[in-house]
Amino acid sequence: MTRSDHVLPSAIEAIGDTPLVELSRLTRTVDGRILAKLEYLNPGFSKKDRIARQIIEGAEADGRLRPGQTVVELTSGNTGTGLAIVCGVKGYKFVAVMSKGNSRERARMMSALGAEVVLVDQLPGSKPGQVSGGDLELVEQEAQRLTKERNAFRADQFNLEGNTRAHYLHTSQEIIRQTNGEFDAFCDFVGTGGSFAGCARGFKEYNPAIRCYLVEPTGAAILAGEAVTNPNHRIQGGGYSISPLPLVEAEYIDGYLQVSDGEAVKVARRLAKEEGIFAGFSAGANVAAALQLLNGAFRGKTVVVLLNDSGLKYLSTDLWE
Ligand SMILES: Cc1ncc(COP(=O)(O)O)c(C=O)c1O
Repeated sequence: MTRSDHVLPSAIEAIGDTPLVELSRLTRTVDGRILAKLEYLNPGFSKKDRIARQIIEGAEADGRLRPGQTVVELTSGNTGTGLAIVCGVKGYKFVAVMSKGNSRERARMMSALGAEVVLVDQLPGSKPGQVSGGDLELVEQEAQRLTKERNAFRADQFNLEGNTRAHYLHTSQEIIRQTNGEFDAFCDFVGTGGSFAGCARGFKEYNPAIRCYLVEPTGAAILAGEAVTNPNHRIQGGGYSISPLPLVEAEYIDGYLQVSDGEAVKVARRLAKEEGIFAGFSAGANVAAALQLLNGAFRGKTVVVLLNDSGLKYLSTDLWE
């Protein structure tokens, strides 16, 4: 039997090349367009599959990751799911270190994919569903301890260039192809900032006039230089009040936007009801920020956003009524 070009050798090759969809119903009463990249259609149901592949294959290529070595990473669930997929297919043992504050679907999914999941208690006073920078610091300490103990490769998403590179080489170029380069702005809710930095670099190299806005939670807009009054926001996957972010270069930031928990939730629910798009809190935040741009300086223009992960990851939360 001859090999068909339509059959992929593994789920790893199914990562990326996600569709770009115009949110025409959501923007009915607004002057302008929002184009949304459906990143929840990746095999692990989030954009973080892309960085898992890039970090692992980059480390394999230059010898930082050796055959049979264990991989460790801190995760809010999505990077860990991507790493569980990539490591599972390639035969590496993977240990995911996650805060107990992240939704439990994520831990169950990573376990199902063969990962060892280590859950770390939150700080006293932190609430489940609201993971702060302080909570993340505890996860970081445990990830460092386990990396040493297991003599493991640390797939360090906050620092390794593979994170930014995945979005520079692929996400940004896919968007430029899908739009014929015809869009005016990009806004992105940041965790590590890898998606923002990689996409912004790709966009600005293509057309320096494309404006790139960094999105943070209201009350935790540390990168915008504001005081952190609400570290325990509900937009999972980012807004950790870490400044500066090692992967984000200031030259790519044209401005800062802030989105409240309530706005993110409201827009995520509208995406589901009006557009048939079942995505998570941070997708709601990105579209809410894009609406701010269309209602402000970008009236009549086109804004691109990423819809980072699936709404299925939040069935145990109050995102869905
Ligand atoms: C759901 C979700 N949204 C947003 C982000 C932030 O993406 P980045 O780390 O590329 O800034 C993440 C990162 O884990 C995420 O899981």
